[in-house]
Amino acid sequence: MNDLPREFLRTDFGHEVYDGWYLEHGSYNFEAPEFVERHFPFYKKALLLSKDDKILEAGCGIGSYSREFARRGYHVVGMDLSPNFLSEAEKITQHENLEIEFIFGDYNEMNFEEKFTVIFFEGSFFYQSKEGLISLLSRIHKALTSNGRVYFVHKNPSIWKKGYPIANWSQTKKNVFVLQKAEYDENDGVEKCLWLKIDLETHKHYKCDFSVMHLPPDELKNCLMAAGFMDFHFHKKRRLGNFDPKNDNDFSVVARK
Ligand SMILES: C[S@@+](CC[C@H](N)C(=O)[O-])C[C@H]1O[C@@H](n2cnc3c(N)ncnc32)[C@H](O)[C@@H]1O
Repeated sequence: MNDLPREFLRTDFGHEVYDGWYLEHGSYNFEAPEFVERHFPFYKKALLLSKDDKILEAGCGIGSYSREFARRGYHVVGMDLSPNFLSEAEKITQHENLEIEFIFGDYNEMNFEEKFTVIFFEGSFFYQSKEGLISLLSRIHKALTSNGRVYFVHKNPSIWKKGYPIANWSQTKKNVFVLQKAEYDENDGVEKCLWLKIDLETHKHYKCDFSVMHLPPDELKNCLMAAGFMDFHFHKKRRLGNFDPKNDNDFSVVARK
């Protein structure tokens, strides 16, 4: 036990250790094809999809949603900042004989001009500050063609905060333990997440801590408008009904340029 390092090695999304663990430990973190397929009627109606659409899936992970778009005949580009996920995405896509362009990149730095008719996020829309959110939405606005649409899922903090704090220990294999923790700070609207991996076999331990902001729906509206989106709708999560701020945990946002 004396050999254990005091420091944990830092890691995050896009780091091969974190992403390797995410792929292995949390296969449920990526949606199963049946789950993805089930929600397509909603995407089709809410986003008014047509076969002429050119779709960017931002934060595509292993490409579960990109592949469903491609299977249905849409032109899709997948973007992610994890080489590990992208190589997995390419492998599965080739195996299915589908054609998708996967690109490496941080969506916060996207610099496209009127290139996509749809920008789609599923489980991948993250921001750390209000300024960061407006900057991201502005880049999305610029990247969309006229009448282009953006889609993402957002948490409703007034309901979510009731479920915090969360802490779960699990054993992923012999001598390897993982802690996943999250708490919500109401003052700054930020969810603080922590992931620890303790490996008693190799004595290498990893730590990933990150923050995600969840603005209340009205503030999100202000940010959408600040970025130039005047036409937007908040749906129930992956359903056509209207979002109910008093009862719904999450909501799906569709904004049109
Ligand atoms: C929870 S996974 C969801 C993946 C996929 N959308 C799905 O549902 O199967 C979140 C993904 O977002 C990616 N991601 C997070 N921040 C990103 C950023 N700033 N730019 C590009 N990708 C990002 C991560 O690498 C990860 O693949």
